[in-house]
Amino acid sequence: MQTYEEYTDIHVPSFEKSPQRLQCLSHAQLKELADIAEDAYYLLDLNKVTDNYHKFRNCFAQQYEACQIAYSFKTNYTPALCRHLKALGCFAEVVSKMEYDMATKVVGYHPSQVIVNGPVHSQQFVETVMTDGALFNADAWYLLAMVEKVCKRYPQRQFRIGVRITYPIAQGGESRFGITCDKANMSKLASWQKSLNNCQIVGFHSHFSNSSRSFASFSSRINGLLSASETFFKAALPHFINVGGGFFGEMPDSLASQYGQSVATFEQYADAVCSPMTAQYTPKRGESQPLLLLEPGTALVSNAMVFVAQVLEVKHRAGRALALINGSNHNVNHKWQGETLPVQVIPKPGSRSTSNLGETFDLVGNTCIEKDVICQGVKGSVQAGDFVVFQYMGGYSNVLKQPFIHPCQGIFAWQNQRLIKVKKNGDMHSVLYDYQ
Ligand SMILES: Cc1ncc(COP(=O)(O)O)c(C=O)c1O
Repeated sequence: MQTYEEYTDIHVPSFEKSPQRLQCLSHAQLKELADIAEDAYYLLDLNKVTDNYHKFRNCFAQQYEACQIAYSFKTNYTPALCRHLKALGCFAEVVSKMEYDMATKVVGYHPSQVIVNGPVHSQQFVETVMTDGALFNADAWYLLAMVEKVCKRYPQRQFRIGVRITYPIAQGGESRFGITCDKANMSKLASWQKSLNNCQIVGFHSHFSNSSRSFASFSSRINGLLSASETFFKAALPHFINVGGGFFGEMPDSLASQYGQSVATFEQYADAVCSPMTAQYTPKRGESQPLLLLEPGTALVSNAMVFVAQVLEVKHRAGRALALINGSNHNVNHKWQGETLPVQVIPKPGSRSTSNLGETFDLVGNTCIEKDVICQGVKGSVQAGDFVVFQYMGGYSNVLKQPFIHPCQGIFAWQNQRLIKVKKNGDMHSVLYDYQ
């Protein structure tokens, strides 16, 4: 069922024959879109998403053919983006009923192409997911108790599930998710499975969001999964090994340099994961290998969207230049842990006086919060009418943006030679929609 409005094509002369690269947008292009948007806006490059997807998938598939990517919806569930990834062959990874409904009812996924993770679900939802035939990864024992109820309610059906496990990894803290992978829990899982005659645990999943995204971390993530699978499945083959998400994507140099040597490439991740996979599951004649499942979010979309806002005024206070924009920390600062954001200032043509070397300014936001200082000490000069382009905004920015004081901004997208509006600006009606 298509419940969403079709996207709107937009004719923007300055975008025609544009090289379509988010890092090279001109003042004229940004201005034309700003006039249409009547506000600040996000701009999403779906061609870049295509490139990211193919690069990521090819790196893994070249080393381990039986692999499948499931895009993590929470990272950015813009339907146009999810539909685009679906068309490329990507599955969906969801963690709530809301995301499951988006995947199956809006984006059009068949449940068999949806992986359901997440720590909190209702009994009704677990039943829906299992009876629909989606892949459910139980994150905790209380969810396994829900699975058990479903199995007893449908004794004539055979179910297959996965289990999320956790274990210590290199360069990572303890995860609060999943079932601790120790001897006691492994044998408890085996007994649990034995007590039901219509449910099979067919694979393990792990994901670590509090660890580094390094090569070393991924080596220990996969080793933990492989050793748990060896213990649990013994000589039998699991159906899958799911290494989760948490991969770096390609990013601007100014951001990469802040992570030092640890920004692994897709090739390096593929080496870290696929070599031990192949060693443990060497393809044997007539026997298939377990499916390697990967759940990237950041790596597929972060570099494919920017947030654009025009400078409204520059004030000078206590020795600081404060450039005000119609956007806030809420638009851009989620999930950042003190990194300097990759920001470009695109000057208004023709009106610049020569800037002093060493000039800096702060970018300040549109809320009434004194602390809504988006970036401090940005190098260069700035003046009203300039555009500020925040790079690397595709992951966790629009989905975490609340309509605080101002509604959420709209999203434009490139798709081949078309510029389309894929999200409207919010307004009083959309903000008050759920209130009685
Ligand atoms: C289970 C799971 N898979 C995948 C992801 C995507 O992570 P990332 O955007 O870091 O790739 C997340 C994000 O938290 C997650 O919780």
